[in-house]
This record gives sequence, C-alpha cells and structure tokens, in this order.
Amino acid sequence: MSGRILGISGPTVTVDLKGLKLYDMVRVGEAMLIGEVVRLEEDRAVVQVYEDTRGLGVGEQAKGVNVPLTVRLGPGLLSGMYDGLQRPLERLREETGPYISGGRELHALDLERPWRFFPLKQAGDEVAEGDILGHVEEGPFRHLISAMENGRIASIHPGEFTLAGPVGTYADGRVIQAHQEWPVRKPRPYRRKLSPQAPLVTGQRSIDFLFPFARGGTAILPGGFGTGKTILEQAIAKFADVDIVVYVGCGERGNEMAELLEEFVTLSDPWTGQALMTRTIVVANTSNMPVAAREASIYTAVTMAEYYRDMGFHVLLLADSLSRWAEALREISSSLEEMPGEEGYPTYLASRLASFMERAGVVETLSGSIGALSMILSVSPPGGDFTEPVTQACLRTAGAFLMLDTALAHRRHFPAINWFQSYSLYERDMVEHFSATVSPRWGEMQKRCRELLQREETLREVAEIVGIEGLQDADRLLMKAAERIRLEFLSQNAYTEDAFSAPDKTLAMIGDILEFYDRAEARLKAGEFLDDVLKG
Ligand SMILES: Nc1ncnc2c1ncn2[C@@H]1O[C@H](COP(=O)(O)OP(=O)(O)OP(=O)(O)O)[C@@H](O)[C@H]1O
Ligand SMILES: [Mg+2]
Repeated sequence: MSGRILGISGPTVTVDLKGLKLYDMVRVGEAMLIGEVVRLEEDRAVVQVYEDTRGLGVGEQAKGVNVPLTVRLGPGLLSGMYDGLQRPLERLREETGPYISGGRELHALDLERPWRFFPLKQAGDEVAEGDILGHVEEGPFRHLISAMENGRIASIHPGEFTLAGPVGTYADGRVIQAHQEWPVRKPRPYRRKLSPQAPLVTGQRSIDFLFPFARGGTAILPGGFGTGKTILEQAIAKFADVDIVVYVGCGERGNEMAELLEEFVTLSDPWTGQALMTRTIVVANTSNMPVAAREASIYTAVTMAEYYRDMGFHVLLLADSLSRWAEALREISSSLEEMPGEEGYPTYLASRLASFMERAGVVETLSGSIGALSMILSVSPPGGDFTEPVTQACLRTAGAFLMLDTALAHRRHFPAINWFQSYSLYERDMVEHFSATVSPRWGEMQKRCRELLQREETLREVAEIVGIEGLQDADRLLMKAAERIRLEFLSQNAYTEDAFSAPDKTLAMIGDILEFYDRAEARLKAGEFLDDVLKG
C-alpha cells in the first residue's frame, strides 16, 4: 500500500493512504522514516513520525505496512542498549555515525549469534499458545521459549541454532521460531493478576524501612530540578533485589546515559555477583534524539519487561523521567490540533498513564509460573510544583509516592525523600514480611523511628522560639537521636560503600541509634548531665 505525503506539521504527517488501521505502522519519505497512524479520515491518515521530520517534503512517498509498531522479543535482549524504537544503538552508531539518521531497519536481535536450544517438548506433542517449548541459556538466565500459536509439533531440534532459522515445525507446515514480534501498545497476556505480596528490596534505607516497595508494585519519584532523581533511579537499578532491570532514559541528558553504561559494565549485581549488564536492558531516548520516539520508548521498554516477566522472572522497569514522556505526548497532541486540557496536556494524559502503569503487577503466566513487573518512575514537576498534571495523574495510580524534597537536596541530604509527605500503600504488608524474615522488631522500630522524627519536628518549632538552650535535656537528647537518624540512617551517599544497604544492615543501624537513645535517656533519668551522656 503506497501513497504520498500531503502535509507535514512538526512530527505529524498527513498521507493519502486508505485502508489503514489506527496505530498501523507507516514508512514516510524517501528516508523511510518510521511512524504510526494516530488519526484516520475518509481518504487520508495522520501519521505520528518517530524520527526527525526535517528534510521531509510534501509529495514524497508513504508506505503502509499493515502492522502496528512492534518490538522483537527473543534471546539476546539482555545487556542490550536500544533507542525508543528498539534499534540497537551500538550497531546504529557503527552504521550511521553519532547522528542517527532516520529509517534504519536494524534488527533488535543478533541473527547470527549461535544459541543452544534445549527442547522440553517433542514431535507429536500438542501445544497451546504460551506453553513452554524449551529454553536457551542467556547468561545466567534460563530464557524460556514458548509457543506463539496452538498446534501439533512435527519436529523440534535440540542443539545449536541461530535466530535466523527455525527451531522446529508444526504438523501443518508452520515453522516454530525462538523469537517473535509483539505490538508495543498491547499488554502481553497472562492468566491472572495476583496482589503484591513480597517486598522489592531497593537497598535504600529510607525506602526499605519507611516506605517499603512491593514486587509488582508501582512507585513514583517526583522531584524538582537537581533533587537526585537520576542518581536514585540508577542506584536502584544497580542494587535492587530483582532478576532483570529495564532502564529507560526518557528525554534526559545523553551524557548521563553514557556514564551509566560506562559504570554498569564494571559493576556486579550485589545479590548474585554476576556482571550487572547481564541482567540489564537499557532503552535510551535522550534529549538529543527525536522527541516523538520518546512517546514510544516507554512502551518498547515495558513490552520487553513483560516478555521476561512471562518467563517467571521478577523484572523492574525504571523510567527517568515520565514528565519528558508526557511532554512528547503534549507536543504530538498539539500538532494534531486536539483540544488541550490542563497546561496544554491532552485530556487523555491521565488515562494513558494509568493504562501504562496497569502493565505492572504480579501475574500467573500463561505457562503457570509466577512473574512480576514492578515500576519505579521519576517525574520532574516544573518548579517543583507537585500540583501539576503529570504528578497528579501519576499519584492517582501509583502505589508508592516518594517525594523528593528540594530543601533536603539543598542541605545535601540524599536521597532527598521527604519522610513526612511520602507514603507507600504496600507498607503494612511489607512490614509484616520484614518482621517475619529479618526481625520481629522491624515494625516496632519503624514506628519509633517515625515518632522520633515527628517529635523532632515539633521541638524544632519550639526551639526556633526559645532557642535550643531553652529546651529541656530530655528534648535535646531526642533531637540528637533524630539528627542521627537523619544524617546516619536516612542519608545514603551514592558514591560510597554505603550506597547499598541490605535489610539486616538497615535494621542493625536503626537498632544502634535507638539503643543509644534508650541508654542515654536512662542515664539522664538517673541524674547524669546531658553533656556527659552525649560524650558516651
Ligand atoms: N544519593 C546521593 N548521594 C550523593 N549525592 C547525590 C545523591 N543524589 C544526588 N546527589 C547529588 O545531587 C546532584 C543532582 O542529582 P541528580 O542528577 O540525580 O538530580 P535530578 O533530580 O536527576 O536532576 P534533574 O532535574 O536535572 O534531572 C548529583 O550530581 C549529586 O551531586
Ligand atoms: Mg535527572
């Protein structure tokens, strides 16, 4: 199906193609830029182009492909780095230089790399969609290959193969491949959703202890300029207790992504000791890349994350920042001349965000195992104003809200998670879990920690009036203990050994501070002077 370009307006292009469906992929111009149909009219279609439309001319050709925007799923995605349309960045750079030119058709998967296939099924077996056919070893992972269609297996070949060829055939002649394509906007199927039960340990004490996060949960990290969103997301990417991490750099600085990769290749996963990159997929659509592909990048990423979830893994999707995604959506919407909602964002912003976050969760997969997809998404509200539409829309859906505080960041308290305004809806269940697995005192200590911070806040207001000298010794001691909680316990410098704290270390640290407080309080009561008590 081919036609011509009728008009161009920023990232949207009108073409005279008929018979297309909404979200079908279209190639436009001599450069064959990739786009998606976002509006259909009687004899024309409006296409949102994911690449730079500069240089594109009216009258140039347009081709309908009759399939929606898809990603390729198969062995070899891990440790890969892709752009928002899942083109492998390294090969793209080799072929086109540092400036990515449009329209490149590059396979996300390496079709020449040899793999070894270990079949589970044999000739004659009837299989249904989602049934496991066998596996290949992808680094330390058992990468399950499942059936994409129902059928009776005629042949299935163990041993070495490449993704260019099939691993077997069905009785009716269809081939069985170890890779597949999946439309990015369509959530991958599962049997049923389960409620999050187990914690996702991030290694960040302020999260794990005060606002614990759950496997299969969603959390947002809103914070103004320079409050530590990127550093925190990257620390979690390094240390989180998960099988696989998909990290999306969405509209953020390119050099940050380069640094991240440089660092990741040298690090190992603290939980398994394996090289960190072997469990990581990076999707980068940095600020120097075309804006429109940013809109697609989070879908590209979540589809790859779901693919590994379907093998029974626990996958964590990190995105930095969702605000840049929303801005791309706004730009596309405005070039379509849609009715703008609040602050120019399209009226469907909240529903789009909600249906994206819906893709997180713990699921029973089609093959009956349990997989989880968790999401931690940063948000950059302009001017640190949390009432803006993107933060508000995320707030309605996310299970945990970790507010990064500009005042704390100014005092260089990192991670700058505000302990009064943040919350986690998973807290009760997760505290129960930590109480059972780490220490039965977890819950009680958490309560005491909160209480000390709360009382410090009240005393601070009093001290502003009467001066710190005007406080009673017991109150000054409390302030000392709370200060230790803030500076020693809740702060974690991302550039030191302390960047990662396992739950038993977290508990031991807060235990020490509370014990110091109890002992000092007893000595005060026994009549000792505060100065002596604080000296130890
Ligand atoms: N956990 C941390 N430990 C030590 N320093 C930190 C930590 N988090 C943030 N910082 C300091 O704060 C600076 C800004 O952090 P970061 O780049 O993560 O902020 P951001 O919120 O992503 O900013 P932007 O809004 O520009 O994207 C860092 O360069 C670093 O100096
Ligand atoms: Mg940042």
